[in-house]
Amino acid sequence: MKVLVTGGAGYIGSHTCVSLSDSGYDVVIVDNLCNSSIGMVKGVEELIGRKLPFYQVDICNENELDAVFEKEQIDAVLHFAALKAVGESLEKPDLYHRNNVGGTEVLLKVMKKFAVDKLVFSSSCTVYGQPEIIPVNEDAPMLPAESPYGQTKQDCEKLISSSGLNSALLRYFNPIGAHPSGRIGELPIGVPNNLIPFLCQAVAGLKDELVVFGDDYPTDDGSCVRDYLHVCDLAEAHVAALEQLPHGIRAYNLGTGSGTSVLGVINAFEESTGESVPFRIGERREGDIVAIWADPSRAEKELGWCASRKVGEALADAWRWQQTL
Ligand code: NAD
Ligand code: WQD
Repeated sequence: MKVLVTGGAGYIGSHTCVSLSDSGYDVVIVDNLCNSSIGMVKGVEELIGRKLPFYQVDICNENELDAVFEKEQIDAVLHFAALKAVGESLEKPDLYHRNNVGGTEVLLKVMKKFAVDKLVFSSSCTVYGQPEIIPVNEDAPMLPAESPYGQTKQDCEKLISSSGLNSALLRYFNPIGAHPSGRIGELPIGVPNNLIPFLCQAVAGLKDELVVFGDDYPTDDGSCVRDYLHVCDLAEAHVAALEQLPHGIRAYNLGTGSGTSVLGVINAFEESTGESVPFRIGERREGDIVAIWADPSRAEKELGWCASRKVGEALADAWRWQQTL
């Protein structure tokens, strides 16, 4: 089976290309490299021991995407390509809509043209906002999006739901870590927004300190709680989703099923790497959700997938990757 991976040079896409290849799939990558580099494709090729067809194409460009589908006999699509910086989306909402929603529209159109009816989509727990019930399951209501980025995920889920394709909507919680080889990981472009890349840069001395955004929340230690999952577990979930692709549409939460606070992450990092994290407690970050973690039981029951790696392992892998940068 030949699988097209849009955004395959990116953080989650690259790890998924390795898992797909390990499971015997042929992989074709499309990425415009707007938030990645060709070095990531080389890293994937090194890990799998062979070259991959790579097309530097913007998915918004229908003619160029057509040409890829004409050249390759695509059986299914894993669609990661999107812009993902929440802060930037507030400054450039039109760009986010055009790229993420417009790009998905073009992709769906081209898939229809070439009679490809299998799609796995990268959605996000951001579609839930702050849920009333934690752990959150897939039947929780979608709250009004808190950012234009979050809006694009809701819009894409709707587009795909009405497309008639067989599709899994994968709602990721907080992916962290890197391939244990240290060969692929998350590329730091600009100042990282996310906790783990920032933490790693602080430990590496590239930032003075990590600021913990608030310790007066109604949680056990006062800092916010998230469901951090190893990117390799997440990559494997995509293979499971492809193998158990539903007829019609089905959403799946992908998380570990347990929450870790920001201070808990700092402790786990120190324990698993032996490095100390320079940090101070700062102000709350506007718009932060207090606590969320997944109920991943649907993915376990229907896809046969559950996260197997611990947070400490993911943090050690993230640190190994940081040291290669
Ligand atoms: P990433 O930026 O590392 O990867 C996305 C890739 O898509 C990049 O390589 C980028 O160059 C490419 N891309 C963007 N727009 C494109 C376009 N128009 N045409 C072709 N390529 C394009 O991000 P990631 O963390 O790997 O995220 C992958 C997907 O998962 C995204 O859809 C993101 O919204 C979603 N997601 C990420 C997280 C997270 O915390 N990382 C959480 C939930 C959902
Ligand atoms: C995690 C925790 C911060 C940085 C984002 C997106 C969301 C989804 C997942 C894509 C929070 C705290 C962070 C720092 C800190 N992505 N923090 N100091 O907020 O769960 O969500 O990623 O779909 O859409 O918004 O992830 O990594 O930014 O923050 O204390 O310097 O770390 O307050 O509690 P978040 P994050």
